[in-house]
Amino acid sequence: MGKIFVALFLCLSAVAMAEDPYLFFDWKVTYGTIAPLGVPQQGILINGQFPGPKINCTSNNNIVVNVFNQLDEPLILTWAGIQQRKNSWQDGTPATMCPILPGTNYTYRFQVKDQIGSYFYFPTTALHRAAGGLGMIQIHSRELIPVPFDNPADEFSVLLGDWYNKGHKTLKKILDSGHSIGRPDGIQINGKSGKVGDKDAQPLFTMEAGKTYRYRVCNVGLRTSVNFRLQGHTLKLVELEGSHTVQNVYDSIDLHVGQCLSVLVTANQAPKDYYFVASSRFLKQGFSSVAIIRYANGKAPASPELPAPPPDNTAGIAWSVNQFRSFRWNLTASAARPNPQGSYHYGKINITRTIKIANSRYVNNGKLRFGINGVSHSEHETPLKLLEYFGIADSSFTYDLVKDEPPQGNNVIVGPSVVNATFRNFVEIVFENREKTIQTYHLDGYSFFAVGIEPGTWTPEKRKNYNLLDAVSRHTIHVYPNSWAAIMTTLDNAGMWNLRSDMWERAYLGQQLYLSVLSPARSLRDEYNIPETQVLCGAVVDMPKPTPYAGT
Ligand SMILES: *[C@@H]1O[C@H](CO)[C@@H](O)[C@H](O)[C@H]1NC(C)=O
Ligand SMILES: *[C@@H]1O[C@H](CO)[C@@H](O)[C@H](O)[C@H]1NC(C)=O
Ligand SMILES: *[C@@H]1O[C@H](CO)[C@@H](O)[C@H](O)[C@H]1NC(C)=O
Ligand SMILES: *[C@@H]1O[C@H](CO)[C@@H](O)[C@H](O)[C@H]1NC(C)=O
Ligand SMILES: *[C@@H]1O[C@H](CO)[C@@H](O)[C@H](O)[C@H]1NC(C)=O
Repeated sequence: MGKIFVALFLCLSAVAMAEDPYLFFDWKVTYGTIAPLGVPQQGILINGQFPGPKINCTSNNNIVVNVFNQLDEPLILTWAGIQQRKNSWQDGTPATMCPILPGTNYTYRFQVKDQIGSYFYFPTTALHRAAGGLGMIQIHSRELIPVPFDNPADEFSVLLGDWYNKGHKTLKKILDSGHSIGRPDGIQINGKSGKVGDKDAQPLFTMEAGKTYRYRVCNVGLRTSVNFRLQGHTLKLVELEGSHTVQNVYDSIDLHVGQCLSVLVTANQAPKDYYFVASSRFLKQGFSSVAIIRYANGKAPASPELPAPPPDNTAGIAWSVNQFRSFRWNLTASAARPNPQGSYHYGKINITRTIKIANSRYVNNGKLRFGINGVSHSEHETPLKLLEYFGIADSSFTYDLVKDEPPQGNNVIVGPSVVNATFRNFVEIVFENREKTIQTYHLDGYSFFAVGIEPGTWTPEKRKNYNLLDAVSRHTIHVYPNSWAAIMTTLDNAGMWNLRSDMWERAYLGQQLYLSVLSPARSLRDEYNIPETQVLCGAVVDMPKPTPYAGT
């Protein structure tokens, strides 16, 4: 466990006001040998652990993480889904901050403002995510804010996903040479991969008969959708990426790359072992992994008969779409604030901009690339947000290579991809997937309403089918093959924010862009100043700092 200090700072004003509590973490990031699928390889550990330490916090806590990079490569960590209000400076993507160089440390400071729910952090540099450096972030509701279910007996974190045995440096070399990393080798569950009938397997978790537990589950893989289920038990969905949901009960749930949710499981079966099963979805030759869930005082091993997965292929997609549509926001539950979460009527706001995004795969000069609307993003040597802030963006890269409509033809431009977005616009983003594989997209800095998913091609008439009442507010959306997905959000968080494929091969080879959301006021009301201690790099190292934002 990392050292955690909790301190409460009091303002020394006439009226003593409690500032929100601080949580301090010191993280040492090192290499170490791990073997999630039984094959030893170089992993990335945080304080010696894989998965890394959990950040357990409460809405509005201030989180301070001092990261010591003891790898031999530059490192950046991101806090996916944590909205970082007014603060893209430390969002942890290569276009917003300079990397933490080997042998140095950097301190992230952010507030989990008005958020609850389940998230995870991971490295955005190189192919580090394929080696670890990731862990769970759980944000509890503040005391006195009602949570729409009884306090569970305990909370269990499950970070699962596909895994490659090749090691992150080899995987990176493959991508750099213009090839695909291909199929993963299996699925890991919290750093292990279990097989049915393994008598030496230790339980993942132990439950006491009669009690109810919260399982927070994230798909931290690189490309594979996963279905999970628990032998003999049902899963009651209560939270999805920061929103309390209508509490439907499922036998199994599809979880796509980058997505997190919470289910309640009641230990209401005979006291013995049960298998938790995670299996791949929509892969020609699928694979699965199991972990034992034990009952305290349990008397027997788990049955070797695993619960069947849902259908695959075409029927499986229909099954999965239906399940997606059954995920609804509970409009009367409180979120991070005491008022009901549905009091924000997103369905009544006029759309000010529609951005239609189509993903594609290209071979460019003999090398594999991926892109969005004909543009394949490449990293600039200086973080784009710094070029913009220091006023040298225009001479360094071209804004708006990506247009609001996918282009005709197959030309591909490779370069830094930044879309100029207007502060406070209410935007609709339509993701069109004309490829044969499933996609997932994540937007930093915001949560959005996932209003629709349908097979076929999107047209404006499809808006009639949107869920404009109780779509879940979340940060990652999947797009089925030859289908579309639509999201809506208000761009009220100034900063530069990454919209990326959460499938790491695709993001690494260009299927991502940044939204530059600038407030014309240049006021502290809208965006924080760059932190005093921010490390600079590239073209801005010796430049004079711009006039700081003023106001409050
Ligand atoms: C996590 O945080 C919650 C609320 O802040 C607290 O009640 C709980 O004991 C914490 N759990 C752990 C394992 O630290
Ligand atoms: C690096 O760590 C030291 C010791 O904990 C701390 O005092 C310093 O502020 C850290 N530096 C940065 C840039 O975060
Ligand atoms: C929604 O939340 C409310 C308030 O906690 C709760 O009473 C209700 O049962 C929940 N509704 C559903 C359908 O889950
Ligand atoms: C939204 O657009 C409609 C039709 O163009 C218009 O009548 C209405 O006033 C607009 N609503 C708002 C809140 O701007
Ligand atoms: C971005 O758009 C705004 C208008 O919405 C315009 O004033 C500004 O010049 C644009 N910035 C760039 C870099 O194109």
